[in-house]
Amino acid sequence: MPDAVSLTWPEPDIALITFDQPEKRVNVLSRSVLDRFEALLNEVESRAGVAGLIVRSAKPGQFLAGADLTEISTKAGQPREQIVALAGRGQSLWKRLSSLPAMTVAAIDGVCLGGGTELALWCDARVVSDSSATRIGLPEIHLGLLPGWGGTVRAPRILGLAPAVEWILNGESMDGREAVKKGFATDAARPDDLLTASLRRIREQQATQDYLRWRSEWENPIELDPSEVELLRLAWRERLVSELPDRTTVRSTVFEHLVSTAAETAELALQREAETFSVLFASPTCAALLNVHFLTDRNKRDPGIDHAAFKVPPIRSLGVIGAGIMGAGIASSAIRRGVATVISDSRREAVQAAVPRILEEAAYDKAKRATDPSRTPSLAALLSVGAEAAVESCDFVIEAVVEDLNVKQQLFARLEPRLPADAILASNTSTIPISRLADGLQRPDRFCGMHFFNPVRRMKLVEVIRGDQTSDETIARAVGLAKQIGKMPVVVNDGPGFMVNRLLFPYMNEAIELLHDGITIEQIDRSAMAFGMPLGPIALYDMVGLDTAMYAGRTMYNAFPSRVAASPLVPAMVKRGRLGQKSGKGFFNYENPRKSPETDPAVAKILDDYTRRHLNLTDEQVTHRLFLPMLLEATRLLEEHVARDVRDIDLGLIYGLGFPAAKGGLLYWADTVGARQLLAMLDPLAALGKRMEPTNRLRKMAETGSTFYR
Ligand code: NAI
Repeated sequence: MPDAVSLTWPEPDIALITFDQPEKRVNVLSRSVLDRFEALLNEVESRAGVAGLIVRSAKPGQFLAGADLTEISTKAGQPREQIVALAGRGQSLWKRLSSLPAMTVAAIDGVCLGGGTELALWCDARVVSDSSATRIGLPEIHLGLLPGWGGTVRAPRILGLAPAVEWILNGESMDGREAVKKGFATDAARPDDLLTASLRRIREQQATQDYLRWRSEWENPIELDPSEVELLRLAWRERLVSELPDRTTVRSTVFEHLVSTAAETAELALQREAETFSVLFASPTCAALLNVHFLTDRNKRDPGIDHAAFKVPPIRSLGVIGAGIMGAGIASSAIRRGVATVISDSRREAVQAAVPRILEEAAYDKAKRATDPSRTPSLAALLSVGAEAAVESCDFVIEAVVEDLNVKQQLFARLEPRLPADAILASNTSTIPISRLADGLQRPDRFCGMHFFNPVRRMKLVEVIRGDQTSDETIARAVGLAKQIGKMPVVVNDGPGFMVNRLLFPYMNEAIELLHDGITIEQIDRSAMAFGMPLGPIALYDMVGLDTAMYAGRTMYNAFPSRVAASPLVPAMVKRGRLGQKSGKGFFNYENPRKSPETDPAVAKILDDYTRRHLNLTDEQVTHRLFLPMLLEATRLLEEHVARDVRDIDLGLIYGLGFPAAKGGLLYWADTVGARQLLAMLDPLAALGKRMEPTNRLRKMAETGSTFYR
């Protein structure tokens, strides 16, 4: 097998180290790769008269994806000194790039993250490609960490303290143009000109020797005006307190580290970086966030079926029927990822209104936080509008028409005979059983659910739902399409509420029960948010719409009457026209758009009428009441095989409902608590009835001491 890292000599005095891990899409910095890189550095160093060393990747659009996290995660629980040594190993290896006699240049094309960015930062200069694939970042903060191979030391010295703080604390990547503007890179070039540009840089520097001056500058403390530091502190103090609780702790630690080590020599700053890295690495937040990383990574590789016997071809053309909120969102995601899409609606004005929205959303540039009109013409070329019949040449059709079984079935009856024999038909229904929708289809095996979340642009999760007769191939193709358009598909079996809404429901149901028990809206929402939810359940009712919630509640009540409390409170609110944000009034008042939602005395009056008793609960007890029913439901989803894997449940909750990533997922969190302790937490809630009754799975886990994750 060829080497993952190799050394060549394009010119007698120019060394070229190339990363190219065989049979891998990306280059990852594992221990063996680092060892090999070290051996090659030794070789370069031992040769006399070397003017320059260029480091690059042979994979187009992929420079270095960072450290091997699987390998790093095996170090969990090891003594602190070993973690310090792990950081020290990377630091001292990369540091050699700034002390070789030759000038060093990183030639970056494409994705350059974490340890890869740190390697580049240790080089004397960085030349980046101007391709749209170039993304340079230090995303360690998303794992509850700081860059531990010198990133926190080099970035502030090269970019300046304030921009480095922004970059590291946000964990966002920059493109080639921004990299030059921010002073990360000296030059930008076309991908096929990168080597020439790097070489030119070296030849220039041979004459000026500027890089030697940079080297000594970057070894020193940063010269800072105290008022500059004070201003930075002020600016970040406010931003940090508005963060979710677990995140604030990590960011505050990293912020303090960056600011205090800026005033030290690089050597001392490096030691402190390794120490802080070891502290963060030992935290439960880091372990939980690493779990989320592995969840998403697994999802990328999961074909959605247990035995992938065939390769799914990419979808060439997508048909979307229904140009409302969801249909427009799906079409927009599809053209954004280059999939030719036909959209149709029974109302002409609906399509006319949707087209500009679809194009605008698809042309949105995340980095600029604005629509990029230069993208519109090519996107428009991928979108066509037509009558229902226009989708008949598509190889995949998703319906997103009104939530009505008859309307949907009539549509299928007209459409199915016109579609190519191997086309897939999918429904975006949020509540109708997939097997029921499939009734009357000629090819029910080619039909499945694809439940997107609103707003489609921001929500990555898609539930791919297998009906009784859905074939493996259909599931694999739906999973393929979801990935093709940048989504995270989770395959579930058919059932009321599918997976995500079924998990949401017990939590929402309990929030209303807490109101009946005299707990205030404020305490309920505060407790959920202290647990890490982005929004409390009562505010979520207002966002979803109380009429929609009432309808979904009925579906759940019909399916699980023994554990769903049929509260009259939500219908009472609906009857008074308090539908939530959309009607300007719900549990909160939204009538003043310039103000944040306000409490409303009229709601206090309604709640009074429906309060059954006045319990005094601590925030922790409220949290137990909200999340334990959700957990029990998750164990039922596993018992009933609605979910394929515990990891799908955790991924679905994080990306579908905003469950706190810093808890690693619901079942991951449950494992950190332990089944026995969970039973102890449920015990005082037994009087609430079936919905708090431990399931067999949980009892068994407590008996055997087992966990959800193996
Ligand atoms: P919407 O009301 O915004 O759009 C529905 C569109 O379908 C309308 O433009 C209507 O003219 C069109 N339509 C109705 N009957 C049609 C027919 N026979 N042929 C062609 N077009 C027809 O609805 P929305 O919110 O986009 O929902 C669509 C589907 O997505 C529903 O099944 C809903 O349950 C599901 N869904 C909705 C979510 C949401 O948050 N809005 C979330 C997830 C799924």
